[in-house]
Amino acid sequence: MATVWDLVLEGVLAEYDPKPPTLPGYEPQPKQSIAEQLAGEVFEMLYGGAAGGGKSYWLRHSAVLYCLTHPGAYVAIVRRTLPMLRKTHHRPLQDICRGLATHNKSDLSWTFPNGAVLQLISLTHDGDEQDYKSVEFDRLYFDELTEFTEAQYTYMLTRLRSSNGHPTAAIGATNPEGVGYAWVKRRFVKPRPGDLAEGQGQPVACEPWRPPLPDGSGPGRARVFVPATLLDNPALLAANPEYEMTLRSMTDPRKRKALLEGDWDAMDQVQGAQFSLTNIDNHRVHKAPADLARVVVGYDPATTFTATSDETGIVAAASAQATRPRQMYVLADRSARFGSPEQAARTCVDVAWSVQADAIVYETNQGGDYVKAALNSALRHAVKEGRWKGPLPKVLGVHAKRGKALRAEPVSVYYDQGQVHHVGPFEELEGQMTTWTPGNDSPDRLDALVYAITHLEEKAAPAGPVPIRSLW
Ligand SMILES: Nc1ncnc2c1ncn2[C@@H]1O[C@H](COP(=O)(O)OP(=O)(O)O)[C@@H](O)[C@H]1O
Ligand SMILES: [Mg+2]
Repeated sequence: MATVWDLVLEGVLAEYDPKPPTLPGYEPQPKQSIAEQLAGEVFEMLYGGAAGGGKSYWLRHSAVLYCLTHPGAYVAIVRRTLPMLRKTHHRPLQDICRGLATHNKSDLSWTFPNGAVLQLISLTHDGDEQDYKSVEFDRLYFDELTEFTEAQYTYMLTRLRSSNGHPTAAIGATNPEGVGYAWVKRRFVKPRPGDLAEGQGQPVACEPWRPPLPDGSGPGRARVFVPATLLDNPALLAANPEYEMTLRSMTDPRKRKALLEGDWDAMDQVQGAQFSLTNIDNHRVHKAPADLARVVVGYDPATTFTATSDETGIVAAASAQATRPRQMYVLADRSARFGSPEQAARTCVDVAWSVQADAIVYETNQGGDYVKAALNSALRHAVKEGRWKGPLPKVLGVHAKRGKALRAEPVSVYYDQGQVHHVGPFEELEGQMTTWTPGNDSPDRLDALVYAITHLEEKAAPAGPVPIRSLW
């Protein structure tokens, strides 16, 4: 068996030889070799497509190869939750690293003789990425990138900084679905025209490209998208000839196309979806008008707060003064998976303060009393700590007499009529809006949006100020 040093030597030789370094027992398939090579040429890469294409398998071997060839490197494989990491990567990595690295069970890391460390980390709750504030990574591998929010991902990019002078990169792998589908697609697969420099064409698969820097000062760091299809993985098809059949028998035609063919457009063309991205794009604005009539925060709290809980929907919207038909503006989406009901309520109050909301609207059907109590308590704290000054927002429970689909329907009509404007992009919210079809559980961000818009449309005049003592 090759020693670590043989492998390091192979890594050095790879500079002269187009054949990338490999691991004992690992035979990359052609697409996996392409991914390996491109990962070394860019700052951000997405390996995305069909389920079973061999993405996760490549990702963990690539992470180990990087450690073997980059002394002292700190590399992480990131998934949204720890149970997911344990289920998908832990056991296979123990097999791959046997004899190559020392495993530390307590922090799920492997230390290589050259000082490189590979660790499994999770970012379960929004904000967990802040735990890595003073950490430097050489390479980050995000498996199932669409599980993360763009804010989590871009924060982690700032942690890529090699004190060893190694080339740094963020590598994502994913299927074309999930809460982050819209931002991942826009970032890697199909940028919007405004994301590209003037005259810059749409990126081409497997060809690195440079998006313009937001301040217009020139091109930014290179990105690349590597598409994956099931056909990339003959090993899987040979061992499990019925796997393709499993994918083919999925009833949702969009999911079928996404997971079977790795089609990144499939989830956009949602048959029966109530909202279309083209419509949202057509009415998007950069700034809300200064004279807003009413400002409201829609709040749809999760009922549990564990790693696998739903998100809490927090969406702020406003209506413009005296316009007919009424023009409405979506101002903020701060929905997230919070660690506790208090944290969720506090964030809702922070958002209400930041947009100067005159009302917070929540649904009373599920634990309404608790929700109201949590919001009032968060407001009390905000007042005590000086984070809230002046008139307080009304905390209003709405009782959903009708089903969720029925409540979303009029809201989608306001969108169709061009009455609702998104102030900037809200990738995750829009991802949920454009992939949800009535009859399925409506996602939390969408619910919060529906509460907010319904309230704005129903209430003409602004609410009066609420006396502070009403909170106690
Ligand atoms: N190079 C390879 N050699 C042998 N088996 C492979 C290889 N690449 C992938 N596989 C197998 O194919 C299956 C699916 O791969 P996986 O990486 O989990 O797919 P994806 O993450 O794209 O859904 C796995 O069971 C894995 O063991
Ligand atoms: Mg996978």
